[in-house]
Amino acid sequence: MAKRYVEKGLTNLVRARPIIIVVSLHPDGTVNAGTFGAYTNVSGSEIGIAIGKMSHTYRNIKRVGELTINVVNKPMAKAAEICGRDIPENESELEQANLHCENSKKVSVPIIRECVANIECRYVKEIEINYHSFVIVRCIAGHIEEKFIAPDGGLDVVKSQAIFNIGYPEPLYATLENPFLVR
Ligand SMILES: Cc1cc2nc3c(=O)[nH]c(=O)nc-3n(C[C@H](O)[C@H](O)[C@H](O)COP(=O)(O)O)c2cc1C
Repeated sequence: MAKRYVEKGLTNLVRARPIIIVVSLHPDGTVNAGTFGAYTNVSGSEIGIAIGKMSHTYRNIKRVGELTINVVNKPMAKAAEICGRDIPENESELEQANLHCENSKKVSVPIIRECVANIECRYVKEIEINYHSFVIVRCIAGHIEEKFIAPDGGLDVVKSQAIFNIGYPEPLYATLENPFLVR
């Protein structure tokens, strides 16, 4: 097997989580939405997300302490790109992306109706790393589209056509197919 040695962009070598839209609330009530791909599960109930410290998402999470994670699928790819734009803080990306809010059960921040799964979360702690902060959040409640529930209760990322950005910052996305078991 021929391999290339690299020293830059190393975390891109393990990029395999569906794109999410993080919803947060500005104190004036504006619902903010930002698209994120650099995140990971850190335990059964905690997720860590690398969030730019200049982003509205970061500032809102630090002020309010709550957020929702909303999983994007293929029909929503354009909406995710719109939520990834730098839109003024007093405007809602959701309106521009034609996405709709629904009340959460346990947090003040809404979830996105069109997303295939949603998780309601609370801020736990952060680790600041240069321009980003690795923000660890606790998952409090979840919502998942019935037809996309996998046998283990999680999201069926193949059937739901959850999308993966495979060339950030290029708007190049892929879905997963041909899953196989190794016994
Ligand atoms: C597919 C995609 C993935 C992204 N992933 C991240 C990420 O993991 N971390 C981050 O800080 N910004 C990421 N961005 C950029 C943010 O979405 C962008 O900075 C956005 O303006 C943040 O919104 P906000 O200022 O309303 O919080 C991503 C954008 C796209 C389109």
